[in-house]
Amino acid sequence: MVGRTGGFYTFFLEFTGDHFMQYRRLGNTGIIVSRLCLGAMTFGGKATPPYDKVGGLDLAASGRLVDMALDAGINFIDTANVYADGESESLLGQVLEGRREQVVLATKFHAPMGKGPNDAGQSRLHMTRALDASLRRLRTDHVDLYQIHNFDDLTPMEETLRALDDAVRAGKIRYIGCSNLAGWQVAKALGLSALHDWSSFVSVQACYSLAVRDIEREILPQVEDAQLGLMAWSPLAGGLLSGKYGRDGSTDPDARRLHIAFPPVGQEHGLAVIDAVKAVAARHGATPAQVALAWVLAQPAVTSAVIGARRPEQLLDNLASLELVLDTQDLAVLDAASAAPPSYPAWIRAMTNTHREGFLR
Ligand SMILES: NC(=O)c1ccc[n+]([C@@H]2O[C@H](COP(=O)([O-])OP(=O)(O)OC[C@H]3O[C@@H](n4cnc5c(N)ncnc54)[C@H](OP(=O)(O)O)[C@@H]3O)[C@@H](O)[C@H]2O)c1
Repeated sequence: MVGRTGGFYTFFLEFTGDHFMQYRRLGNTGIIVSRLCLGAMTFGGKATPPYDKVGGLDLAASGRLVDMALDAGINFIDTANVYADGESESLLGQVLEGRREQVVLATKFHAPMGKGPNDAGQSRLHMTRALDASLRRLRTDHVDLYQIHNFDDLTPMEETLRALDDAVRAGKIRYIGCSNLAGWQVAKALGLSALHDWSSFVSVQACYSLAVRDIEREILPQVEDAQLGLMAWSPLAGGLLSGKYGRDGSTDPDARRLHIAFPPVGQEHGLAVIDAVKAVAARHGATPAQVALAWVLAQPAVTSAVIGARRPEQLLDNLASLELVLDTQDLAVLDAASAAPPSYPAWIRAMTNTHREGFLR
């Protein structure tokens, strides 16, 4: 069955008999990625705090999640060199052996990978070393989507973008993307790439969930204007919206957020959002995680939700979010609990732009 949704071609393919995977083009590129991207931040780290609390999964457990994801039609996997100090990439490289070409493989660089002054950031020096180290760990000769993990205050953007472009031309990278940048930083990078005819960012990876909607102010409009792919990281706010956290804490003694409150969410705001998610879940006989993920997937700018799981049953739960369609009543309940108050200059634009827009209705 082939459908068309919101201007994007969406293919619905049945893989397991239980789940229908959905796909989108990654921004304005020619590649098609699954709407759920498997995040590998839970892979490895048993001996590397704080990653022991994030996941600490061994080779067998990581392999089980990847098997399940591929069986369900996921073809998009995200990791970073810093996750578990390289172990996430190493485990992923091992479990993808022999099936590397089944996935669009994304990783990132920027965070410290050593103690020296040049073991972090986005200098040409560090980027070339970091990329070669990631390729070794991932057991591949190219990364499909290589992302800067953050903004680097110390390296001129020109240096990073030119070095990334060289790596693309050398065949070590297929596409480049960015993560955790402000809207103006994305815009500046795109302008520089266009000016110099360098490879340019095709995607933005940003924190986005019902509990953390900051990107709606500057980043999301930038993504839409530039036709970039949007990968929403921590779509459950690190598990907060899975339904196991309430006013008394968590029902799961191993839950990550009992140890690491990441991404940060204000206590009262978080509880209000959780209440709304649970109410909508009860209406549909769905789980809170499915509602929270369905909301992220319902946002038109979002290409893929980058989901994390520590246990197979969590991944199964999350896969089922693809089958949940939220109606206008659900969206209104969720919005009432989660939307940020209008920000400047959005509110004055809304006040003054209504005159001409009225003629277009
Ligand atoms: N670019 C960046 O700066 C950045 C930052 C963070 C993450 N990411 C990417 O985004 C991916 C996902 O991030 P995330 O792990 O924070 O995503 P998330 O989906 O918000 O949280 C995942 C965690 O929530 C819990 N969980 C997931 N599904 C559940 C369910 N159905 N029921 C109960 N608990 C459930 C599990 O932790 P517990 O079992 O421990 O509770 C799981 O590890 C990462 O792997 C990484 O690829 C990127």
